[in-house]
Amino acid sequence: MKVPAHTIAAPRLADGGSGDAKWAVILGVSSGSGFEIAKAVAAEPGLNIFGAHRGHWPEQAEAIDAHVAALGRKSAHFIGDVGTHAGVEHAADRLLEVAGPRSVRLCVHAIANASLGMFLPGYGDGPFRPFIQQNFHKTMDSMANSFVWWAQALVARDLLAPGAQLLGLTNPISDSMIHNFGLITAAKAALQVYVKHLAWEMGPLGYRVNLLNYGTVDTLAVKKAFTPEKWQRFQDVVAQAIPARRMLTTPEVGQFVTLLLRPEAHWFNGATIDFTGGQSQSLLDCLLYDAWDKNRANAPKQEENP
Ligand SMILES: NC(=O)c1ccc[n+]([C@@H]2O[C@H](COP(=O)([O-])OP(=O)(O)OC[C@H]3O[C@@H](n4cnc5c(N)ncnc54)[C@H](OP(=O)(O)O)[C@@H]3O)[C@@H](O)[C@H]2O)c1
Repeated sequence: MKVPAHTIAAPRLADGGSGDAKWAVILGVSSGSGFEIAKAVAAEPGLNIFGAHRGHWPEQAEAIDAHVAALGRKSAHFIGDVGTHAGVEHAADRLLEVAGPRSVRLCVHAIANASLGMFLPGYGDGPFRPFIQQNFHKTMDSMANSFVWWAQALVARDLLAPGAQLLGLTNPISDSMIHNFGLITAAKAALQVYVKHLAWEMGPLGYRVNLLNYGTVDTLAVKKAFTPEKWQRFQDVVAQAIPARRMLTTPEVGQFVTLLLRPEAHWFNGATIDFTGGQSQSLLDCLLYDAWDKNRANAPKQEENP
């Protein structure tokens, strides 16, 4: 569905919302991680939701409104690209109108808009396409630079409530070498550095900035990066690599973000928070054992040790 850039959806104001309730800004509210984080923080601690997305998933945006209204909270959407500097400025202006100064308790950067490809041409056929220049701009702006632009826009408009937190999202596969993932990995590395520097600069103002690192969850962005067969293979490998032997779910991510809003979590700052369930430590082991298990399946049954 094609939606004009920077369309503003009218805020849905639910009855019974308390006048002094604070807001969560969820960039990428209509799918995956952002969708579940919005649902979770609307319930606990009970934040209003200002969501941004480009309008590709209108049913899910409506589902957020319904969920938030049922909790007696307010919701509003900015429909447009919030991964560009101009888009951030437009959306932040709208946020100021809707929520007012010092109202934002949480801002989560959950947009996924990265290009896959290789840095050099001629690396085989098919999916290994070389990047074009536009891929660099789009990926770095959407996945990393816009995080800083949001911090700037929120501070410039005095939108942040005392003790507010900015949260970026990252993935342990950023530490691995995976074909086609060069740009997204570079963007995540930049995001991690931005988080540390922003925490340093925003700390004296009374704000916190963190990065949540969690393993692959089943979302639209992830599925787009794989063929169905590769996605199945990926899920199997990841499940083997996690001590719990299953993948994390997006509702679990949402629940964890509510913990980060509790007073007891106030000392997390400038942190890359490991919520991988141990995934990052065991990928190599899992690959080795996968091969051994196949060999073992074909081998004659061994005698037990005396
Ligand atoms: N999925 C995982 O396994 C996983 C694991 C760890 C970390 N993460 C991180 O979590 C973040 C979200 O990933 P996800 O998989 O949850 O995403 P997703 O399911 O694809 O959802 C992306 C959301 O962002 C919106 N969006 C994308 N580009 C946008 C733009 N330029 N401006 C405004 N809205 C935009 C999408 O809606 P529209 O298309 O309508 O704009 C959608 O609401 C990413 O930073 C990702 O790296 C993901």
